[in-house]
Amino acid sequence: MCGIVGYIGHKNAYPILIKGLKRLEYRGYDSAGVALISEEGNLNVYKAKGKVADLEAHCQEKDITGYAGIAHTRWATHGEPSSANAHPHYSASGRLALIHNGIIENYLTLKENLISRGFTFKSDTDTEVLVQLIEHIMLSNSLPLLEAVQVALHQVIGAYAIAILDREHPDTVICARQSSPLVVGLGSDNEFYLASDTSPIAEYTDKVVFLNEGDIAVLQLGKKLQVVNMDNVKQHPKVKQIDVTLGQLEKGGYPYFMLKEIFEQPDCLRNCMRGRINVDADRITLSAVIDYRKRLIEARRFIIVACGTSWHAGLIGKQLIENLCRIPVEVEYASEFRYCNPVIYPDDVVIAISQSGETADTLAAINLAHEAGAFVFGICNAIGASIPRQTQTGVYIHVGPEIGVASTKAFTGQVTVLSMLALCLAAERKTISAEQYKQMVSELTKVPEKMEEALKINKQIEKLAPIFTYAKNCLYLGRGYNYPVALEGALKLKEISYIHAEGYPAAEMKHGPIALIDSEMPVFVIATRDKLYEKVISNIQEVRARGGRVTALVTKGDEQIRKLADHVIELPDTLECFQPLVASIPLQLLAYHIAVCKGKDVDRPRNLAKSVTVE
Ligand code: AGP
Ligand code: GLU
Repeated sequence: MCGIVGYIGHKNAYPILIKGLKRLEYRGYDSAGVALISEEGNLNVYKAKGKVADLEAHCQEKDITGYAGIAHTRWATHGEPSSANAHPHYSASGRLALIHNGIIENYLTLKENLISRGFTFKSDTDTEVLVQLIEHIMLSNSLPLLEAVQVALHQVIGAYAIAILDREHPDTVICARQSSPLVVGLGSDNEFYLASDTSPIAEYTDKVVFLNEGDIAVLQLGKKLQVVNMDNVKQHPKVKQIDVTLGQLEKGGYPYFMLKEIFEQPDCLRNCMRGRINVDADRITLSAVIDYRKRLIEARRFIIVACGTSWHAGLIGKQLIENLCRIPVEVEYASEFRYCNPVIYPDDVVIAISQSGETADTLAAINLAHEAGAFVFGICNAIGASIPRQTQTGVYIHVGPEIGVASTKAFTGQVTVLSMLALCLAAERKTISAEQYKQMVSELTKVPEKMEEALKINKQIEKLAPIFTYAKNCLYLGRGYNYPVALEGALKLKEISYIHAEGYPAAEMKHGPIALIDSEMPVFVIATRDKLYEKVISNIQEVRARGGRVTALVTKGDEQIRKLADHVIELPDTLECFQPLVASIPLQLLAYHIAVCKGKDVDRPRNLAKSVTVE
């Protein structure tokens, strides 16, 4: 939900921490703070409400020296956004400073116990309770900090990624994780970097350790990384090589990460397919299907659990798998699934779809699946994230870090993986002919170039966008494979322009929503050529007959709808089941340009975070 950055080494920590926070700001940002152990040995904490830039302004004229530091961008869960509630939080004596990502669920019990011992608190957060508890255990039992952390974490219920500085040990940062990600970067001359994901680390080192559940790590300058669990059992962390380039982290000349990521999609899908579709483009190989072939092709049912945009990808996955593999698929909101006492059979396969791999609701749904003995399959983007590590197998979408809060390339990456999975399983189950399989695989490899052609409408969309900035409500209509695209287009508009929008199955309009139609409500219809094309034309006519203004996405060369719609956006043709990959592009661009026209912060829309790691 928020961002953690840490450094211990031979360089000034402050610039590394601030730059790192800026790379993580998209994850959660109502306030920010930094703690440094200065050259004189003071533990200085500076924090401010607002953006990281506000923290920088606050740090002007302050002592920002020091080679050991931790920093945090906060997305509040306990205690309103304020400088007092911002992290880092001091311990009672001021000897420790702690930052935290997640929720201490039993913080009130712990807080009452500390208050009964005379402790007072400067903030309303759950986090401050943790740092007070750790120091209380350390001082009252004369324990070293590491042991005090282990004892304290045994008392904690909840999700956390934490980092702690101890004024009396300026060469060390201690960190720990439970249900919230933490990555350690191994620097060149025995220095350490720490962050919630690899983006603040990638420019300094490509050697990282993804901490596992329950890990506690001691980052001591000049020493080897030490990782233990809460029972002080030595862990053996695996060092991974990351390939995130600086270019991927910078905007690459685009005004916003979101626009960069929309335009990256053709290459991202090529990366997603690379090594999985052979050069003759007539065969798909997924190691997950090779390793678990029997389990997957004999699945009684697939249950897809996801949130938001990933849930929309799941709806497309349902149609792909049911149409091609003839295996029933249910698509569930993870947040509902986890609490509705679902019926899950051991021969079910649960597919968890998540860009961040850290979404709390999706993680919880996975746990339910495990408890029921089902097979759990992950489709994620973030390498080494919690979800991929809690599934039996899966497929990474390999679209690179997605910085914009509004998901675009991850969505098309997820749909591409679902397309490959469905084709793979259909070929194994022989529910499609060898000829059909080859033809579909070949067409899938052509989708990136069709997306490049679709991206050429950017200027047309940019010109069109101002017409819709007045709108208070918009409607997105689609059928079949394009119904989830209508939902996704509506979500994009909502989350970055703050205009209310609703996606709807086009045929459902006459069962109520058509009462909403008037000239004030823009209606966007996905009307590309497929088996329901004629039906969609009738739906457009229903809207027009009531004064509705229609913008239609059509297949290139369509003259019939041009006579009906107020605006027409032409798209290259592709197989019906791959149309979502092409049709989503104009809707992403439309949301982007409308939001820019309205002066919104496209990459960091209000109230939203990139990774929702709390329920
Ligand atoms: C999509 O644009 C939103 N940012 C949001 O709905 C997102 O898809 C959802 O929170 C799920 O995130 P995940 O894919 O990382 O699990
Ligand atoms: N629960 C903590 C707080 O509200 C941390 C929230 C976060 O993950 O940023 O301060």
